[in-house]
Amino acid sequence: MKSFFHVQDIGNLSTALEEARQVKANPFAWKHLGENKTIMLVFFNSSLRTRLSSQKAAYNLGMNPIVLNIGQDSWKLETELGVVMDGDKSEHLREAIPVMASYCDIIGVRSFAGLQDRDFDYAETILQQFVQYSGKPVISLESATVHPCQAFADLITIDEYKKKARPKVVLSWAPHPRALPQAVPNSFAEWMNAADVDFVITHPEGYELDPLFAGNAKVEYDQMKAFEGADFIYAKNWSCPGVTNPADYGKILSKDMSWTVDEAHMAVTDNAFFMHCLPVRRNMIVSDAVIDAPTSLVIPEAANRVVSIQVVMKRMLEALNL
Ligand code: CP
Repeated sequence: MKSFFHVQDIGNLSTALEEARQVKANPFAWKHLGENKTIMLVFFNSSLRTRLSSQKAAYNLGMNPIVLNIGQDSWKLETELGVVMDGDKSEHLREAIPVMASYCDIIGVRSFAGLQDRDFDYAETILQQFVQYSGKPVISLESATVHPCQAFADLITIDEYKKKARPKVVLSWAPHPRALPQAVPNSFAEWMNAADVDFVITHPEGYELDPLFAGNAKVEYDQMKAFEGADFIYAKNWSCPGVTNPADYGKILSKDMSWTVDEAHMAVTDNAFFMHCLPVRRNMIVSDAVIDAPTSLVIPEAANRVVSIQVVMKRMLEALNL
């Protein structure tokens, strides 16, 4: 595996899920693979789960993780080519990436969407520079448009808890005070479209996800109707993807609190499990009662972040050790 950005990069999903079961059952069985290997984990943005699960997975595989928080532990980095660097950024990615690559075997990058320039974000301009200038396998630890490690962990969790062969899974927009990127819903949609589930997306009008990720998924603008008979509710806020109106890209179009997932919403489901990638704003995205209920999967979902990234790192190490 050379890079991990999209669902296609993991190959057959049944095979990947079986490998995830094996890794979860016996996390230290592949400790020899990472001997004398280093992974560089580069964070342009904050993280709790991604940072800790990546480090834990690296240790499980016998690998040495180095974490770099850009702008805190390092110089501030310029990301755009052709600019006069007379501001507060002391170093360009063009030099920083090959230097970092010279110290490691695999690179993981967290770099959120700026939400100012849709073309810049949707071209994955920063992530692609890591691919181009590092020459190393690259993992998106949530980049401008995708969060594949989260989506793989979500699929593992759904596979573990499903009570039907083909469960109904609903991705629901929910309100948030700040404009958030579309990476999590994009990847969740991409992975659910590839999985054997009945997938429905619900959001207010104007929040349509990019067709690259939404694919042929059903979109239902009536949230309660979408929730009917659901087995899994996956709540998430995202800002306007700018599909129907590019001028609205990155904007908050709605803060409608009637979209907060509460007990009345869950009552029309088939006793659905509640999921969210975390961090979550309580009583904005989801009510206390729903997230604290026994049907809330937010903690096992976060725990599976170690499993998903460990499968990805394991495959990259196997390719490096060939
Ligand atoms: N879900 C997720 O990626 O969490 P962090 O932002 O804390 O890493």
